[in-house]
Amino acid sequence: MAASTQFLRFLAALLLLAVGVALAAQPASPWVRLEKNGVHDPRNPGLVQLQQPGDALAALPRDTAGNMVSWVKAIESGTINPRTNLLPETEVRLREDDIIVSRNGSMPAVKFPHRQHTLWLDCANCHEQLFKSKAGANRFSMTAILNGEQCGLCHGAVAFPLTECNRCHSVPNASLPRRPPP
Ligand code: HEC
Ligand code: HEC
Ligand code: HEC
Repeated sequence: MAASTQFLRFLAALLLLAVGVALAAQPASPWVRLEKNGVHDPRNPGLVQLQQPGDALAALPRDTAGNMVSWVKAIESGTINPRTNLLPETEVRLREDDIIVSRNGSMPAVKFPHRQHTLWLDCANCHEQLFKSKAGANRFSMTAILNGEQCGLCHGAVAFPLTECNRCHSVPNASLPRRPPP
């Protein structure tokens, strides 16, 4: 009798251990809860009305930085299907070409893809105020970008952060055609 109780206890302990291991193995959610994000007042009783970022974003394709959602994958896979225009007369414009906007220096060259941008944005968001629509007509600088200008107007603010160097610096310089000597 005593032996079988002991065995049951042993089984119970084993079960607890298994549950513990399973819980510990679950990756922590990458999204900070609203009451802990330093923006919302945790004492505000209205907070429970708001959707937690984890609940809103977990179903979307995952990324490794920023708000941890790959918004390009989300739209290309059809996981989300945002409305393209409010007014019927608005012309929705897509553009498919990629442009190498930098090929100097130590870093791999920067490729700017029009397609992924025009899935989200209109031409007028960038042309002609922010960037002239002519390849090579703009002078880019990483310092300006880090200061929140040029690409940095959006990247690090509403698009993937500037810590993801290789997403922009994505083309090995050696793979580009040689430029004629100056
Ligand atoms: C997110 C910003 C952004 C958006 C949105 C955008 N562009 Fe551009 N576009 C650029 C950049 C950056 C360049 C490269 C300029 C350079 O090389 O100096 C460029 C270059 C161009 C060029 C020159 C291409 C060449 O080979 O000379 C044209 C034409 C152009 N864009 C048209 C458009 C049109 C039309 C749209 C909308 C359908 C659009 N762009 C949307 C940023 C943008
Ligand atoms: C007006 C806002 C805006 C500007 C300016 C802008 N981007 Fe983006 N960019 C976006 C958005 C929005 C996305 C899609 C969301 C994301 O990937 O975070 C994006 C995505 C990208 C991607 C990822 C494409 C993919 O397939 O995942 C690259 C690369 C990129 N941008 C490079 C640049 C470069 C280089 C510049 C400057 C020449 C630039 N962007 C300027 C808004 C902008
Ligand atoms: C949103 C796109 C974007 C991201 C992210 C980005 N860069 Fe850049 N970077 C650029 C553009 C555009 C230029 C072009 C300046 C030029 O024409 O020389 C540039 C230029 C540079 C340059 C000077 C030219 C060169 O190739 O030596 C350095 C160095 C550089 N970036 C380093 C970095 C590092 C390090 C990171 C990550 C911490 C980074 N960049 C992230 C867009 C980006």
